[in-house]
Amino acid sequence: MSTVASKQRLSRAGRDTAPVLLQWYDNEARILPWRYRPGEMPDPYKVWLSEVMLQQTTVKAVIPYFEKFVDQWPTVSDLALADEESVLQAWAGLGYYSRARNLHSCAQAVVTEHGGQFPADEKELLKLPGVGPYTAAAIAAIAFDLHATPVDGNVKRVTSRLFAVEKALPQSETQLRDLAATLTPDQRTGDFAQAMMDLGATVCTPKRPSCLMCPLQSQCTAHALGIAERLPLKAAKSDRPTRYGVAFVALSEGGQLLLRQRPDTGLLARMLEVPGTDWQDELMPHREALRTAPVKSDWWHVPGTVVHTFTHFRLEIDIYRAVVPADAALTFWADAPRCRWVPRGDLDRQALPSLMRKVIMHGIKGH
Ligand code: ADE
Repeated sequence: MSTVASKQRLSRAGRDTAPVLLQWYDNEARILPWRYRPGEMPDPYKVWLSEVMLQQTTVKAVIPYFEKFVDQWPTVSDLALADEESVLQAWAGLGYYSRARNLHSCAQAVVTEHGGQFPADEKELLKLPGVGPYTAAAIAAIAFDLHATPVDGNVKRVTSRLFAVEKALPQSETQLRDLAATLTPDQRTGDFAQAMMDLGATVCTPKRPSCLMCPLQSQCTAHALGIAERLPLKAAKSDRPTRYGVAFVALSEGGQLLLRQRPDTGLLARMLEVPGTDWQDELMPHREALRTAPVKSDWWHVPGTVVHTFTHFRLEIDIYRAVVPADAALTFWADAPRCRWVPRGDLDRQALPSLMRKVIMHGIKGH
């Protein structure tokens, strides 16, 4: 029998999948602060906020941020009125900062264009800033129980295994979306979507899936073929290039740190940073880098480097440190309006990306 024919014979995922999975979800759903008990009406603001935060970030990392945001801005109108810097500050550490700026613009759009209510329509949701196909479908299903199928990494993995899709990602993306949509029931679409996510996160895991515990085991073609753990296949990734930079940790005698606001556009736009060189494709001679130090001083090279991985490149930063008077003249006056001295005790409250927190930790080591 051909592989396709034998897969068809084995594949029992379909109409039975949702009822079985929903029953499992009723007993096993993870308790998460943005989740609702059966019968409770979801707050679309909280659904949207959690879904934006959960893009590219783990549930565990998101929980304290979600709670902080809801505490500080209990409604979408409160968030719309916040100033951008305080939103960036509250977001600091979650990464992918364009999401925080879009979050703020989206809150403003919901207030100005939709009277403060998220639209109960997948196509309208898709027009909001920062809301892509995944988020629009997630809000439509979870907040409004509309027929929509959000497809994230967990859903792709579960679907690829249920149907034993052996084409590699990303080429199989459309096929997986179509197959996932065939499983979505007419009711409880939000619970079904979250059940798929929970199954992927806790049972149908990337490595060593717990097939013995899986409510869909008897419907899973990959399990029947003994290939669940190998799926989904992924096309080989090209290596991320490495870029290099030098950063200057300037400490004042009074215990402050010199920070600079990044440019208005580009990566980490308007976040704070430790002043430093541009990031370049080649290692630069340190003598050259030192000419760009923000203050003339006796700069000391802190041993080691800080390595940080962005989506498209890996960054290696060398760090120099100096103690300078807080009224020291800045070398580059053009930069002065974007620079400020921040007391070390206030650093937690600043809009500092994780990379810069690492740079500071490394730069003040032993000081
Ligand atoms: N990942 C993204 N959205 C999620 C949700 N609503 N529940 C669990 N995991 C998720």
